[in-house]
Amino acid sequence: MDLQVGRSLYAEIGGVDGIDRLIQAFYQRVCADAALAPFFARVSMNKLIHMQREFFCAALDGPLRYTGRPVIHAHQGLGITREHFAAFARHLFETLHAMNINEDDRYAIIARINTYYDDVVNVGAGGDS
Ligand code: HEM
Repeated sequence: MDLQVGRSLYAEIGGVDGIDRLIQAFYQRVCADAALAPFFARVSMNKLIHMQREFFCAALDGPLRYTGRPVIHAHQGLGITREHFAAFARHLFETLHAMNINEDDRYAIIARINTYYDDVVNVGAGGDS
């Protein structure tokens, strides 16, 4: 019997401390990737990490509310392709693996993030895709 049934992804990851570790380790990987680093060159990483902490907490059924811009507005005009998106998702998957998050939960978290694909990839300056 699976005694973990009913635990939220937020609990599986270790609450807000787990989210903090995830976001720090994840952006270290993203910024070490030559294909992705240029997107973040002029971005305040402190602000981004603060926003991502809220965003991931909310996306994984945790208690924080996301107070940032709509995801589509934050990414419009940046020229993010499906390859960029795939690399970003792969770094997230590998970060979760390094944190010993089990495979089912890793796929569940990636599935949540994938629902934002259309708000991130090839979003034109007017916000359409
Ligand atoms: C599903 C995948 C993604 C999600 C859920 C996501 C989410 C977010 C969030 C919540 C913010 C903060 C918005 C704010 O400050 O109000 C943000 C900002 C940003 N994201 Fe993403 N993101 C994703 C994928 C990507 C990818 C693939 C790239 C580039 C390769 C990227 C580049 C950026 C940049 C450069 C910013 C800062 C924009 C600025 O401050 O003007 N994101 N993202």
